[in-house]
Amino acid sequence: MDKIRIQGGRPLHGSIRIGGAKNAALPLMCAALLTEEPLVLDRVPRLADIRTLKTLLAQHGVEIAIAEGIEIEGQRLTLSAADISSTTAPYDIVRKMRASVLVLGPLLARFGTADVSLPGGCAIGTRPVNLHIDGLQKLGAEIEIDGGYIRARAPKGLTGAVIRFPFPSVGATENLLMAATLARGETIIENAAREPEIADLAHCLIAMGAEIDGIGTDRLRIQGKEKLHGARHAVIADRIEGGTYALAAAIAGGDIELLDFPAQYLGALSDTLRRAGVEVEPNGGSTHVRRGNSRVIGVDAMTEPYPGFPTDLQAQYMTLMTIAEGAALVTETIFENRFMHVPELARMGANITIHHASALVRGVPALKGAPVMATDLRASVSLVLAGLAAEGETVVSRVYHLDRGYERVEEKLSACGALIERLAE
Ligand code: UD1
Repeated sequence: MDKIRIQGGRPLHGSIRIGGAKNAALPLMCAALLTEEPLVLDRVPRLADIRTLKTLLAQHGVEIAIAEGIEIEGQRLTLSAADISSTTAPYDIVRKMRASVLVLGPLLARFGTADVSLPGGCAIGTRPVNLHIDGLQKLGAEIEIDGGYIRARAPKGLTGAVIRFPFPSVGATENLLMAATLARGETIIENAAREPEIADLAHCLIAMGAEIDGIGTDRLRIQGKEKLHGARHAVIADRIEGGTYALAAAIAGGDIELLDFPAQYLGALSDTLRRAGVEVEPNGGSTHVRRGNSRVIGVDAMTEPYPGFPTDLQAQYMTLMTIAEGAALVTETIFENRFMHVPELARMGANITIHHASALVRGVPALKGAPVMATDLRASVSLVLAGLAAEGETVVSRVYHLDRGYERVEEKLSACGALIERLAE
């Protein structure tokens, strides 16, 4: 298993091109199941999670052609679901990546049948899929859990309904949105999640012939169509990748230009970074992030559904707070077990006390390099960022987590002056 070795203490200077969003690309690829015509997706990042979903879709019979982008960063995928050979998503693939459950809505809506393995637990919590199942039942599906599989049937097709989520779920909103595009009549999703990746999916579905109102709000209204058709769509920029590199500049010091990444994509992080003393300036379609020689100031943060502070940046932000002047309270409200990075940061000298869903981070003048272990995707990158600022050498093991969500992380950082390399084993 590969490791990443970092010699800390060097500020970052340079530019980093931000890729297409993993969390937008995954549902968009599943949307290809809704039509027999090809769906062309540009700016798809080259990531392990994308490869896992390609394997799953190919297993359903989707033909996938890959072209490397010439004018656009990333790859172009042409997905054709004309001949579906299987509507079963097997445990072997689904257990590797929870987002696989996003094939459920499209398969059921178009074919009236889908058997999708339950994803099971993951490092950051139990993460049930009850909202996906309840929503599809509202659309008329018969669903039972049998042998670890969600077995969903709608032989006469799905019928529009009003679905009200008890709290916003990104994946359930996406699954229901896709299913509703082929349901008979009108579907209303209330208390829908509002993440930009959902708006991106909605825009692609509209290009495929769907009728959707309320995009970007918590109330989506969908008029079902008998059929959707092919389309071409470019994936939006990855706000979590962009936010991670903005935090890298804040942690290591120096200045970075985030290319092809408009400043508004940083969302709630911009304001938090500015209050901590980090400069964040829009620069055309890019964003400039700079921290001079002074330490950042401790600023509290609490994760919330969009437009709140993203849970996917919590670990990286906590790393910044470990070297802040003063203390910060970092509260996680989305996932119950998303502090796996804390004991590893403590091995590097961080002073963090966890109390229920909050971590009290008392800033220390400097972290010290150490061997540490990645436990999940965002925790792993937070340890790489910690290594950038630490005195001496940090070796992060189990970096396969990193490859699920960050493309060429060591290349992008070393181009900005970091001493970072991958050790293949
Ligand atoms: C997506 C993102 C993930 C991000 C998360 C929250 C993708 C591929 N992944 O995950 O990176 O961290 O949003 O922003 O886009 N829940 C239930 N029942 C359900 C569904 C969810 O109880 O049926 C709970 C979850 O356990 C969690 C909360 O709802 O506590 C939010 O989860 P959700 O928004 O669904 O996250 P994902 O779509 O899995």
